[in-house]
Amino acid sequence: MLGIVFNALEEFVLETADMETWNAVIDASDLQSGGAYTFGVTYEDSEIVSLATNLCKQLDIPLETGLDLFGQFFFGYLIKKGPIELQEYNDTQTLLKNIEDVVHRDVKRLHPNAYTPFFEYLPDTQSSGSLTYASKRRLCMVAGGLLQGAAKHYGQSVEMEHVQCMHDGAENCIWQVKFSKH
Ligand code: HEM
Repeated sequence: MLGIVFNALEEFVLETADMETWNAVIDASDLQSGGAYTFGVTYEDSEIVSLATNLCKQLDIPLETGLDLFGQFFFGYLIKKGPIELQEYNDTQTLLKNIEDVVHRDVKRLHPNAYTPFFEYLPDTQSSGSLTYASKRRLCMVAGGLLQGAAKHYGQSVEMEHVQCMHDGAENCIWQVKFSKH
């Protein structure tokens, strides 16, 4: 996992809790890196799992809730650091159509070690469609939060129905999604 994700997690903790909480989470986690992360460097996936698990214990919330909240925060973080074209998209549907071939491809071009998930958005109508996700990391809760964060950014709301999940043994996750303008 790239350092940017760890940097985002730290900023998330500082915004929603405080430095003391982040330090406690670092101390409680088993980290080969020692807990210092550089933006474009790759770290073990197990470190983010350990940090997220200990953070949710500290905050006394279920892991699923923590990952979803982090996903929502992560979108705002990425949009500030990501390519400028992202600012020009009008809605979440346009972003979703470009995640795989533009956004994540760009991440891999800049950071050849990055591993990005598979995403496919197939619209049924202008405002609804199905979204498929697959990743060795099975972070569908983060993906759901990212999508909520994206909708908020584009002034929309999104209803998501998780109709198939990798955590139930399926080979990918599928959501039926429906967007509406605020
Ligand atoms: C709705 C929008 C998005 C969704 C649903 C999404 C989904 C995800 C998910 C779930 C991950 C975690 C890794 C995994 O599951 O294997 C991830 C990683 C990542 N995404 Fe996205 N993403 C979105 C937008 C963006 C944007 C706007 C950017 C940047 C401009 C971005 C850059 C990244 C980066 C840098 C990583 C880490 C890759 C690594 O650690 O190797 N994503 N994305």
